[in-house]
Amino acid sequence: INHNLYKYEGFWYHQGFWFHSNASFSIEVIMALQDEFQAQPSNVFLASHPKSGTTWLKALAFAIVSRAMLKNNTDSNTVHPLLTTSSLECVPFMETELFLNNPYHANDLIATHLPYSLLPKSIISSNCRIVYICRNPKDVLISFWHFMKQLRDNLSPPIKLEDAFELFTRGVSPNGSCWDHVVGYRKASLERPDQVLFLIYEEMKKDPKNEVRKLAKFIGYPFSEEEDVDEEVEKIIELCSFEKLSKVNEANKNAEETPKVIPNDVYFRKGEVGDSINYLTMEMVEILDKITLEKYDGLDISF
Ligand code: A3P
Repeated sequence: INHNLYKYEGFWYHQGFWFHSNASFSIEVIMALQDEFQAQPSNVFLASHPKSGTTWLKALAFAIVSRAMLKNNTDSNTVHPLLTTSSLECVPFMETELFLNNPYHANDLIATHLPYSLLPKSIISSNCRIVYICRNPKDVLISFWHFMKQLRDNLSPPIKLEDAFELFTRGVSPNGSCWDHVVGYRKASLERPDQVLFLIYEEMKKDPKNEVRKLAKFIGYPFSEEEDVDEEVEKIIELCSFEKLSKVNEANKNAEETPKVIPNDVYFRKGEVGDSINYLTMEMVEILDKITLEKYDGLDISF
């Protein structure tokens, strides 16, 4: 997956239009988006570097927004749409589905892996909201390495961790460097906190209630402070938990007629904090921690 990557405006991408797959994050698509994508002020962009918790953030935002829809429905037996829709498909990616299809989406949520500096200008000028999710680069690397191994064709040997590490530390991965990706959005969130909300995967794991409330408020669907509402927040956390989502996804996968280019289950592995410790050597940890400290210096990001 790291083959044939090209540097474009400081970040690494594939080249060519791969519209048949849901992995078409290519330079051509990004360039076309710059000129053609028209953001609406009501849009909410869910941005991330791959493997940072995109799927989780998409599900949470979708669950928050659609709870209003459920409330208006008097039939108490109505099933939450997340239990019938694949959590991965509940929010389209700007680089793929949205670009291909009608740019209308029912609830204004749009996902993207684009770095802040490459977002179509209309997103910034229309002043719509952006939620970014960041994760400890060590766990991003390990998650990404597993992802790459799952996606490889059976003809080529699986990528060795040493090689994945070497490329990752040099920033060579699709949409990378991971660190520069984070820095772009972090600076934007500090400069314009009303437009950019910066979330941290590890914080969301530690204090999901607080983070989910923060997210809901930011995207315009706040929970009130009353106690019975706490239950509602807890329900959303439970609905979007790794355990629940991976099970629902499994069920959806079994119901699919044609298999996907990237099967849904590769987006659900462990969903834990700190799993990288089980794979990285002490030396690798030191190098990754050093880069993180340097790159995130003064940006108030901790895991
Ligand atoms: P691991 O490989 O460490 O398990 P992305 O969605 O950005 O591709 O990120 C995938 C990572 O998020 C994987 O991490 C995956 O297991 C984890 N993940 C997926 N759904 C999750 C959820 N509901 N809660 C927490 N983590 C989740």
